[in-house]
Amino acid sequence: MSSGLLSSSGSVCLPTGAAILGVTAVAALFLAQRVVWAGSPRRLRTIPPAEERVLILGASSGLGRTIAKRYAARGARVCVVARRADRLSQLADECGAHCIWESADFADVGAMVRLRDKLLAEWGGLDSLYVCAGVSAVQPVMALAGVGSGDDGDATSSGIQNAVDTAARATRGNVYGPLIAALAFIPALTRTSAAPSILLVSSLAAVVPAPTRALYAATKASSLLLYQSLAIEHPDIVFASVLPATMEGDFRASAVDADTATRAAGPNRRGLKLDYVVERCVEAMDRETRGSLVVPWFPYAVAHHLYYLWPSVIERQARKKYDFGA
Ligand SMILES: NC(=O)c1ccc[n+]([C@@H]2O[C@H](COP(=O)([O-])OP(=O)(O)OC[C@H]3O[C@@H](n4cnc5c(N)ncnc54)[C@H](OP(=O)(O)O)[C@@H]3O)[C@@H](O)[C@H]2O)c1
Repeated sequence: MSSGLLSSSGSVCLPTGAAILGVTAVAALFLAQRVVWAGSPRRLRTIPPAEERVLILGASSGLGRTIAKRYAARGARVCVVARRADRLSQLADECGAHCIWESADFADVGAMVRLRDKLLAEWGGLDSLYVCAGVSAVQPVMALAGVGSGDDGDATSSGIQNAVDTAARATRGNVYGPLIAALAFIPALTRTSAAPSILLVSSLAAVVPAPTRALYAATKASSLLLYQSLAIEHPDIVFASVLPATMEGDFRASAVDADTATRAAGPNRRGLKLDYVVERCVEAMDRETRGSLVVPWFPYAVAHHLYYLWPSVIERQARKKYDFGA
C-alpha cells in the first residue's frame, strides 16, 4: 500500500494519483456547493424585503448612510442611529415614512438598551443589524507618545499616557461599541427574527497591518475576532464581517488622534465607491454569507494570506503605499 503518507517501512511516500483525484473531487464538490449556496438569496424568501426590520448603527454619514438609503429604497423598515441628530433627521426625511432615527452613542450601554426597547415596542423585533460605526486613528504610535520619526529619545510618562488615552478612545469606538451592540441585540434578534443576521463593518486593516494605522488596526482586529467568536457561540444568527480597503468619504476626520491638518484635508475621493461596498454588504446579508469578506477580494485577500507566508513583502508595500519612511 502506498496511498498513505507513511509506508510500512516508516518512510514518507507521495500520495497516489487516486488520492490526488479524491482530494480534487472533494474540493470541487465543496466549491460547487458554495457557488450554488451563494447564488440563492434564501433569506429574501424568508423575510420579504418590505418586511425586513433593519437597524444601522453609524448611519449619519458614509457607508452606513448609503446602506440606509438602499434598504429604504426597497421598502424595508429602517432605524438609523448615530450621535449627530441633524444628519439623522435629514436622512430619515430622505428615506421616507418607514425610517425612524435615534441619536445615540453605540458605546453607551443605557442608550443601546433604550434603543432595543424602542425597537421591540415599535417593530416587535429586529431582523438585520449593521454595525457600521467606527473611528479612525492615523498617527504612528510613537508619535502619540511624543517621539517623532528619527528621534532616538525615550518617551516620557506624559507622552506614554497620551498614547494610552488615545488608544482608549479608539477602543471605545471600535471595540466597546460593537461589544455593547452585540450584548444588547443578540437575544432580541434570536427571539424575534425568522432569519437573524448581523453584519460588522470591519476593515482590511484588521487583517493586513499598515503604518500610521496601528491603533485603528488593533481595535478593528479586536472587534473582528469578537464577532467571529460570537458567530460560533450563536449559530442561529448569521454573522458576516465585511473588510473593505480604503473607501471614499470623510472617515479620517473622525480620527481619535487627528491633528488640524488631518481634519482640514477634506474627504478622500480616491477610495472605493460607497455604492460598490454597499452592494457587497447587502448581498452578504441577503445570501446569508457567513464569515469574512475582504473587499475587493483581489489583491487584498491575497495580501492577507501572503502576509503570513512572506511578511517582508507586505511590510515593504505598506510602507510604500502610506509613504512611510521608517
Ligand atoms: N473609510 C474607510 O476608508 C474605511 C475603510 C475600511 C473600513 N471602514 C469602516 O467603515 C465603517 C464606516 O466608515 P465610514 O467610512 O462610513 O466613516 P464615517 O463617514 O465617519 O461614518 C462613521 C459613522 O459612525 C458613526 N459613529 C462613530 N462613532 C459612533 C458612536 N460612538 N456612536 C454612534 N455612532 C458613531 C458616525 O456618526 P456620528 O459621528 O454622527 O456619531 C458615522 O455615522 C467604520 O467602521 C470604519 O472603520 C472605513
